[in-house]
Amino acid sequence: MIKAEKIISILRNVPKNKDGAISRKNLDRHILKRGTDLEKLLGFLAKKEYIFHGSKKLYKIIKPQKSHRISGETISAIYATKIPSIAIYYAMISRSTHKIVHGKKFYNKHKNNNKGYIYILRRNDFEKNNDENFLCRKKVEPEFIFECRFDDFYNNLKKEKINWKKAGEIILQNYIHSSAVHNVKHVLKTVRNSSIIAKSVCPEKIDDVKMGALLHDIGRVDDFDRESTHAQKGAAIAYEILAKYFRNAPLDFKKILFAVKYHSRGKISRDPVIGAIWDGDRLDLERVGMKVNPKYLSTKKAKEIMRSRLIEKLKNISS
Ligand SMILES: [Fe+2]
Ligand SMILES: [Fe+2]
Repeated sequence: MIKAEKIISILRNVPKNKDGAISRKNLDRHILKRGTDLEKLLGFLAKKEYIFHGSKKLYKIIKPQKSHRISGETISAIYATKIPSIAIYYAMISRSTHKIVHGKKFYNKHKNNNKGYIYILRRNDFEKNNDENFLCRKKVEPEFIFECRFDDFYNNLKKEKINWKKAGEIILQNYIHSSAVHNVKHVLKTVRNSSIIAKSVCPEKIDDVKMGALLHDIGRVDDFDRESTHAQKGAAIAYEILAKYFRNAPLDFKKILFAVKYHSRGKISRDPVIGAIWDGDRLDLERVGMKVNPKYLSTKKAKEIMRSRLIEKLKNISS
């Protein structure tokens, strides 16, 4: 096995681009040979007191940025992780990756998104934020900057079957609020509705749909949220849960997080996974006495369910 020290000394001699980053081509040529992928390489570096920051943007020096912590507190800091796959995730996903085009309420596919950067940082420059996260309140110069690609993110997804009983326990205990209408019962109903829809519109993606439905209201603290901040906050919490407990599951993190983040804006989606999650939630609107408007349903299956519920109600009235 190659030692971390050896890797570091090789890295010091790999030519850098003008912008300071080591191109993917050079990384491949000098370091990443068969059997060693980017995640493994970062794993070696993590053993040598290095931590990582992932970003779509390239900077020679990283400066602290305002960021919300889950507690809601805003502080200016650089965040770094010791978990390689989380850094790769951040290098591949940016806020602008997903767009809702105004007036055209559809899920936008990822464009020009095949490149990101991993910053290799010295652990000593950072303070501990939690078990896996570190933060630094002043600017830092990275030891190395690696270009990374979308394949690095997807190749890392190992096919580990999801234990849904365990998943349910982990996720549901993170629903901390005691709410009258957005409670665990609603979440489980959403999971059931969404799964029925998924069986019909995207049976091969049912795990993504179930996971999205389970997580969709995780940012709720009460029943009153006119600005949809529960969805925004929820996406951050959902991300932490996915990265911590489900990083080896064959799930489409991006899609799930997108569905959580935008589920409360009254949009529809052409993407069957996102559509199934959103529709499953909306089909449960009747619990609060609201009629579901088919205009706000994304999938044909959900509209069918609506129609058959209506027919059932009419039958009950007439009998
Ligand atoms: Fe919600
Ligand atoms: Fe909901």
